Amino acid sequence: MKRIAPSILSADFGRLREEIQAVEAAGADYLHIDVMDGHFVPNITFGPVMVEAARKISCLPLDVHLMIQNPDQYIPDFARAGADVLAVQIEVCPHLNRTINLIRECSMIPAVVLNPSTSLVLLDQILEEVDMVMIMSVNPGFGGQRFIPNSVQKIQNLKKMITERNLEVDIEVDGGVTTDNVATLVRAGADIFVAGSAVFHTPDYKKTIKIFREKMGDF
Ligand code: DX5
Ligand code: ZN
Repeated sequence: MKRIAPSILSADFGRLREEIQAVEAAGADYLHIDVMDGHFVPNITFGPVMVEAARKISCLPLDVHLMIQNPDQYIPDFARAGADVLAVQIEVCPHLNRTINLIRECSMIPAVVLNPSTSLVLLDQILEEVDMVMIMSVNPGFGGQRFIPNSVQKIQNLKKMITERNLEVDIEVDGGVTTDNVATLVRAGADIFVAGSAVFHTPDYKKTIKIFREKMGDF
């Protein structure tokens, strides 16, 4: 089953409660929360306090994407805040096995994220241990960027790796996902689609998510 994860990074923060409730009512499957530290990426957003607030507002599973240095240091805080999926960037995890174990010990679902220029080769020793791999299809840091086309081939290659090893690992795509390219991403093998501006910058979230679903179900 294909799923959609609106990213609150593109929401109107002054009306965050209504925005979160609106995407939930519109049929979102997850709420994607982008945590940025101004070091790993050139932007600063929010931390566990925001996750805790979202947890109180919404029943949706919280898909928390950490774009921060030293993620291990904050894993228990995000668990306490109510994160369901916790995604760490592979580029900042020298002891990835330890990091993933810690996420599981904290009763969250571990996901690993690869930047556009990071090779799938780095997953070789770890693919069996994660529930989800997130492919960044923009350089992380900002919403509303343009999709990097060779991400499609990368998703295809990852899907092949997963199938060949007979694993059940979900592929999530993050960055520049729209109603125009989602069908291509489904065909490439992706399961979960993060969409920030393609949802929050439209007037009718229900209508937009319905279009996403139609395109996601075409294949
Ligand atoms: C980018 C973030 C994305 C972002 C996606 O660094 O990780 O989750 O919110 O925004 P769009 O869908 O607008 O590219
Ligand atoms: Zn993200």
